[in-house]
Amino acid sequence: MAQYPELHERRVVITGAASGIGSAVLERFFRAGARVAALDRDGAALAKVAQRYPGVLPLQADVSCESEVQAAFRRVDEAWGGPDILIANAGISLRHRFEEITLDEWNAVLGVNLTGAFLTSREAVRRMQVQGQGRILLTASTNGYHGHANYADYNASKAGVILLMKTLAAEYAPHILANAVCPGYVLTPMQRREYTDEMLEAVNQSLPLKRHADPDEVAGLFMFLASDEACYITGQCLTIDGGETI
Ligand SMILES: NC(=O)c1ccc[n+]([C@@H]2O[C@H](COP(=O)([O-])OP(=O)(O)OC[C@H]3O[C@@H](n4cnc5c(N)ncnc54)[C@H](O)[C@@H]3O)[C@@H](O)[C@H]2O)c1
Repeated sequence: MAQYPELHERRVVITGAASGIGSAVLERFFRAGARVAALDRDGAALAKVAQRYPGVLPLQADVSCESEVQAAFRRVDEAWGGPDILIANAGISLRHRFEEITLDEWNAVLGVNLTGAFLTSREAVRRMQVQGQGRILLTASTNGYHGHANYADYNASKAGVILLMKTLAAEYAPHILANAVCPGYVLTPMQRREYTDEMLEAVNQSLPLKRHADPDEVAGLFMFLASDEACYITGQCLTIDGGETI
């Protein structure tokens, strides 16, 4: 496992940090000695995170709510100053036929996945500009490349995240780097909620690598992108999908 000693004491805000990919990323940064702020709307899960990882700053907030996001970043300011790294990872998905999507569902998915990425990136960028450096890492998805059936709102949100990331990379170079991680199928609580065991196995068989990703494998890619090794990478989608999109 790569160590990245330069991440020691780096200030990182991770959204959706209480479950799945976000909690795997948190674990890696914690082990690297980074100063980690864990932002999530699930207060009970956050309390467990705070207990398990002493020193982690728990921030209960809804990424789609401007005032809550701003308050959370002010708490980071008070604790350590602005973040060096943002990992905008919070997301939700609903499996439903396009013609049945209600406006409330559409707004909820776009609100968390795209507006949430916007609001948290904006707060981070405002601080990183003052600092003269920073990394913005967004969790998109292979669903942002292709039209997966039954996920029209989710796919649209992730395509939006990809273009948001590219715009940030163009607008804030050379001091702020922005990239997106695009996972394929990852075995997380989100995936388990929507897929039966039979569906999970059918996905496994369809993939060249014959299995879902483990969240920790995705976390490793975030660590690399946050590290000094990735200092010449910006505006890119890094796909980690077991060959799904080949
Ligand atoms: N699991 C996959 O197969 C997969 C594939 C590609 C991309 N992704 C993306 O990875 C990210 C993480 O997904 P996961 O599979 O770990 O899901 P998960 O459901 O296990 O975790 C998501 C976390 O985000 C939090 N969250 C949800 N809405 C929030 C909000 N409004 N404000 C703050 N926190 C909120 C939840 O409380 C939870 O802790 C998402 O953006 C998802 O779209 C997942």
